[in-house]
Amino acid sequence: MKVDLNGKTALVTGAARGIGQAIATALEANGAVVYITDRVFDADARGERELAMDVTDDAEILEAMARIKAERGGLDILVNNAGVNTMAHRVNIDKFPREEWDRILAVDLTGVYQVSHAAIPLMQGNGGGRIINIASIAGLVPLRLQCAFTAAKAGVINLTRAMALELGPENILVNAIAPGSILTEGTRRLFYGDDGMFRTNVQQMIAHVPLGRPGEPEEIAHAALFLAAPESSYINGHCLTVDGGWTAGYTREF
Ligand SMILES: NC(=O)c1ccc[n+]([C@@H]2O[C@H](COP(=O)([O-])OP(=O)(O)OC[C@H]3O[C@@H](n4cnc5c(N)ncnc54)[C@H](O)[C@@H]3O)[C@@H](O)[C@H]2O)c1
Repeated sequence: MKVDLNGKTALVTGAARGIGQAIATALEANGAVVYITDRVFDADARGERELAMDVTDDAEILEAMARIKAERGGLDILVNNAGVNTMAHRVNIDKFPREEWDRILAVDLTGVYQVSHAAIPLMQGNGGGRIINIASIAGLVPLRLQCAFTAAKAGVINLTRAMALELGPENILVNAIAPGSILTEGTRRLFYGDDGMFRTNVQQMIAHVPLGRPGEPEEIAHAALFLAAPESSYINGHCLTVDGGWTAGYTREF
């Protein structure tokens, strides 16, 4: 997919790997100057526009915004992608540790607020912009044993709508993407056994996906590119599901 983002400045959170990295690459390939931010970077991967920014750290966020303002004068595209979930605590809510709840909510929901809060002034002084929040289908259709993640992502979807209402008059369009199951560095380890075949539990999960496979990070990146493109100028407050049809309905026959 090709769009014209020449002259645009973008910031992607959690972009050291996975979906965030794919989004940053796609924005850059289409002409944008992209600030790639993350809590961690590989020691040899730090470049001119790679900033250490934890989405829960106000000082680091403000430092990044000040640098973008100084170097580029403003911001056109913000992608709130950074997110965490838990594998260690796939347990019922009565067993779910409070610290895990706090950790996940802090990054997945409050982090979206914190970064947006700091980035919006750079768009207001710049004639408008686009904010794209990476939610999850778990925010639309809760998944069992992931209470904090599902609550946080549902919050992101409704926060997106609230932001769209408030920021639309300033030409700042705010939308969300709800990915289904996407093969990233992290999920790859969970998906495949030592024999290189899908694990049994993953086969069961994929049985719910009409396309019969997990998605690739680039397939989320293309959706983000669409929402960032000048042509998407009347889409505001939407949550775009990119899940191979997982949440379209039941795949079983009755
Ligand atoms: N992979 C999937 O199947 C899937 C499905 C639905 C939604 N999502 C969402 O997509 C987004 C990206 O997921 P992914 O699979 O690429 O994850 P990932 O774990 O591969 O990458 C996440 C990135 O975010 C960074 N990060 C984590 N906490 C951070 C913080 N506090 N501040 C800054 N950066 C931080 C990590 O260092 C990492 O580079 C997340 O919001 C996730 O919830 C992913």
